[in-house]
Amino acid sequence: MALLNILHFPDPRLRTKAVEVSVFDENLQTLVNDMLETMYEAPGIGLAATQVDNHIRLLVMDISEDKNDPKVLINPQILSSEGDEEMDEGCLSVPGYYETVSRAEKVHVRAQDSKGKFFEIHADDLEAVCIQHEMDHLEGKLFVDYISSLKRDRIRKKLEKLKKQEKS
Ligand code: NI
Repeated sequence: MALLNILHFPDPRLRTKAVEVSVFDENLQTLVNDMLETMYEAPGIGLAATQVDNHIRLLVMDISEDKNDPKVLINPQILSSEGDEEMDEGCLSVPGYYETVSRAEKVHVRAQDSKGKFFEIHADDLEAVCIQHEMDHLEGKLFVDYISSLKRDRIRKKLEKLKKQEKS
């Protein structure tokens, strides 16, 4: 397994729209394993392939406290959603920042596993929020898109400054 490099906002590659997965082979399984390892190491509760510069419709997540319940969602689709929920969200691509985002409270999702088998999840609360957040990544969307442009600009400038400091 290998740790993957996570792209940081405002990297334009995070704006790429991911394409459907049609081949469920060893390479895909390797990417899934590497993404899980990268997510646990970060540590984070979710990671979309977009964030590791791989633009296919794949996300991994684990919202369990003991970090022993990995979930892999390929070609996820929200079949229905209900309710509203406001939660503070963070993102491995926007390190150090947390903002309140409003999303559906419950989502019914259909996806494929790494072998291509279809399954469905009825998620609520944190799991529902996590799925919606990660699915946004596959559309090239970030949680900072939901906050004011003033706040987003401030975060962008700080992260750009940080990146420059890392390089020098
Ligand atoms: Ni994220």
